[in-house]
Amino acid sequence: MMPHDSFDVLIIGSGAAGLSLALQLPKGYRCAVLSKAHISAGSTFWAQGGMAAVLHDRDSITAHVDDTLNAGAGLCHRPAVEFCVSQSRSVVDWLITQGVEFDYRSDQPDDEFREFHLTMEGGHSHRRIIHAADRTGRAISDVLTHNAAAADNISLLPDCYAVDLIRSDDRCVGAYVLDSQTNTVRTLAARAVVLATGGASKAYLYTSNPDGASGDGIAIAWRAGCRIANMEFNQFHPTCLYHPEAKSFLITEALRGEGAKLLLPDGEPFMTRFDARGELAPRDIVARAIDHEMKRLGLDCVYLDISHRDADFLRSHFPTIFDRCLSLGIDISKDRIPVVPAAHYTCGGVVVDQHSASDLPGLYVVGETACTGLHGANRMASNSLLECFVYAASAARHIAASDHPPPTDLTPWDDSRVRVSDEGVIIPYHWQALRRLMWDYVGIVRSDRRLEFAANAIDLMREEIATYYGQFRITRPLLELRNLAEVAALTVRCALARKESRGLHFNRDYPETEEFAVNSILIPYNPPTCNQVGLEGQQLPDYPANLSD
Ligand code: FUM
Repeated sequence: MMPHDSFDVLIIGSGAAGLSLALQLPKGYRCAVLSKAHISAGSTFWAQGGMAAVLHDRDSITAHVDDTLNAGAGLCHRPAVEFCVSQSRSVVDWLITQGVEFDYRSDQPDDEFREFHLTMEGGHSHRRIIHAADRTGRAISDVLTHNAAAADNISLLPDCYAVDLIRSDDRCVGAYVLDSQTNTVRTLAARAVVLATGGASKAYLYTSNPDGASGDGIAIAWRAGCRIANMEFNQFHPTCLYHPEAKSFLITEALRGEGAKLLLPDGEPFMTRFDARGELAPRDIVARAIDHEMKRLGLDCVYLDISHRDADFLRSHFPTIFDRCLSLGIDISKDRIPVVPAAHYTCGGVVVDQHSASDLPGLYVVGETACTGLHGANRMASNSLLECFVYAASAARHIAASDHPPPTDLTPWDDSRVRVSDEGVIIPYHWQALRRLMWDYVGIVRSDRRLEFAANAIDLMREEIATYYGQFRITRPLLELRNLAEVAALTVRCALARKESRGLHFNRDYPETEEFAVNSILIPYNPPTCNQVGLEGQQLPDYPANLSD
């Protein structure tokens, strides 16, 4: 990669959203897909459950829309929900043409009429999750990565970490990128830039996400002048494996779809005390119920029991979980699985419209990095892969239809006034402290007092990180810490501004839900002068002063 390389489209992030966007651009577009680590390092690869889609003849688009709106606790943007759900069938068709192999029902003849095997997850009124056993993300990631690598117009650039966007005349014209292989910062020009960097769950001490989920795209877009919305709605997955050797290992909700029960140590089931839907209530309710029981009884974990299913069934439907648990001495066909909630998904993000266009012309944002309005206050299980593909396709169409000349004369990166750090300890210290703080003070149950403490502590950390950033050469850990602290601050600001409890945000000082749902929208200090996009038709709040930078 040479300095001042120029592309038609620069895609930052190589998960489902980034790769599918690249593959749907016109073949004449030169496009780069960047990953800060290896190409499959993001969250997509780890997705177990699958993708929600209306595929069964007893299911309907209306039912999927209604379930999504219900899970979203009044804050979903209906046009986004309808847009997304109505395209689920065509997304499945596209993935199959790419070569993704989903599971079919095993009780039907192997012919053209056989149906997909669909699983059930929380909040869904029908079986509607299409999947490839419990390694759906891997099946998708492998195929899309292979196809992108084979495409003449796509350059895959691993180990390239976007530092910041380049803005010129109120337009995004490229990005500064740290190339970890050469340890230099490159200036990349592009007619359109796409942020597809995933979410920010690494801001929490315990998370189901891989290491890179440091909210890069959200922090980068915020610094470039884009509005950010609904960051208080961080989803905690109810069931991650609790075991000293099992870092970040998810136990898919599809297990509960097959009848797995949540139990206290004495074997008592407890979910129906919290919600009539029991284990298949939406995630916010299940995670809060587990948190409540753990705090009430002083437990380290609760248990998930699927032992009513035999080993053959479990091995064929959930091979990843079966094998992983067995390797730790847990035979899930006999033993209960120790589980705890962990940070899993960022429902808020960069405000975009139906074309995935952000406030800054030339900048698109897709996947978990974006806030399209689909998820509202609580994402329904398995809607996220669907959102990735629908909005990536939409962005690809919009980019192909817009005609901007390639930018020229970009200011190169200047690191003449920084030096190699001799204070490296600051980075791991703040990394640990921030994630502990977020877990303890901005977790499943919040209070104003804890949020205010967190806001002050994070401000101090950000000051110290900014000083360090201004003095020393950048490295990947420094960039991740800087972004993580930025998104933590945005999360706390949104949480403090919401004077109610709704969906994933529960503040015990305001346990009630207000009648009218409003988005928490943060206004940056440097917005572009053009019109702002996204969440159309929604009543926007009168911005409280503390939501403007
Ligand atoms: O439980 C799961 O398999 C997770 C699905 C999702 O987050 O959509």
